[in-house]
Amino acid sequence: MTKLIFVLNGPNLNLLGKRQPEIYGRETLEDVERNCAKVGAGFGLDVRLLQSNHEGQIVDWIHEAREAAAGIVINPGAFTHTSVAILDALNAFEGPVFEVHISQVHKREAFRHHSYVSMRSDGIIVGCGIEGYELAMRRLGTLLAD
Ligand code: DQA
Repeated sequence: MTKLIFVLNGPNLNLLGKRQPEIYGRETLEDVERNCAKVGAGFGLDVRLLQSNHEGQIVDWIHEAREAAAGIVINPGAFTHTSVAILDALNAFEGPVFEVHISQVHKREAFRHHSYVSMRSDGIIVGCGIEGYELAMRRLGTLLAD
């Protein structure tokens, strides 16, 4: 049976492709969705890509994932560095969680070096551009294989 993966994106990632392209590249969230769907299809995984600029909405989607999703790929954007609420929500999710950062956060400002979400993440992919989402999908495919 096909399993569903939630690919969750936090604030400002709706501007992916337009916002600071020297850091985040010129590809868009639509490109991320298409690439994740392509990788997922090879593993029998469906993808639901979601983006919000609002912390509570992301918490609500993680709650929804408890019933609906076999795994989560999450790029929490700036909430990575601030949100205990997103960490708590992920701790209430039982499946595998992969954290993605498009940029290499450890080469950037010190405030980007700490991630609350990493305390829950089963794997972290940093600095691989939007390919990081595909790598996370591939790993989920391996972990969730029957
Ligand atoms: C980001 C890194 C965060 O520090 C930043 O706030 C983002 C994007 C990344 O994908 O590289 O919005 O998560």
